Amino acid sequence: MIPSIGIRPLDASFGAELTGLRITGDVAQADFDAFLEAFHRHHVLLIRDVPNDPAAQVAFSRRMGPLEHHAAASAVHPAYPEVFCVGNYTADGITANFARGVEQWHADSSFREVPSAASLFYGAICPPEGGETCFLDAVAAYETLPDAMKARIEGLRGVHCLYTLSEWNRRHTPGRAPMDEARRRAFPPVAHPLVRTHPVSGVKSLFLCPAVISQIEGMSVADSQALIEELMDHAGQERFVYRHAWREGDLVVWDNRCTLHTASLFDHEKYLRLMFRTTVAGAA
Ligand code: OGA
Ligand code: MN
Repeated sequence: MIPSIGIRPLDASFGAELTGLRITGDVAQADFDAFLEAFHRHHVLLIRDVPNDPAAQVAFSRRMGPLEHHAAASAVHPAYPEVFCVGNYTADGITANFARGVEQWHADSSFREVPSAASLFYGAICPPEGGETCFLDAVAAYETLPDAMKARIEGLRGVHCLYTLSEWNRRHTPGRAPMDEARRRAFPPVAHPLVRTHPVSGVKSLFLCPAVISQIEGMSVADSQALIEELMDHAGQERFVYRHAWREGDLVVWDNRCTLHTASLFDHEKYLRLMFRTTVAGAA
């Protein structure tokens, strides 16, 4: 069967919009294969005008692999435990996860032993301004580093820690409860290379999560922060970034193994925002 999918690059150095793809569990294999090929080529995919159907999002996401259940259990969708709700929406049994501290580049679930492979993020309610999500081409960011810096960071590992992230969030969102002991024990710090190699393409990219990395192994906290800041100054340049302004019904799928992303601010007293995230687990 000939796939019906169209592919149009986004206005950035990476990413593409797909047309003609139905987001359902029973999407034809040829279409799903075309989707996967585009995903591996472009790293960030946008699909517009997707119906608000969390069950279908879960079923489609599962075609990519087993799904994670989010560490912040309070923000999972009441009917679909694989759906993590993001934004300031609190109704219908949903208490979306709302963190005020933005400009926090990261890849999802980096605090896990095996970080997530991919995330699918759906705009159910989107503010008319603000609340964009920014994506960073971590492959280009690595490739354009000076050779001396590449040599300097070769073999270094960042210690990723959910507690570090939780404390960072607490500094930006007063009133947020500290992470409890049980969760702290469930997610002990884990080390991941600063330069990671993509398991499918073999391509190298920068794995920087400044709010999650407590330090670089074998380095002081101050030296670690200075190095990460220096790398982030390079990686965060406009030329590596795609800024997605959401329309309701947008689904964006990103590869957590070669891109970084961050939320941006919106007027949360004026507007509502509700996003559904499904998260494909990484393979050990
Ligand atoms: C996420 C995330 C960005 C946003 O849910 O993993 O980073 O724009 N969201 O809300
Ligand atoms: Mn994220």
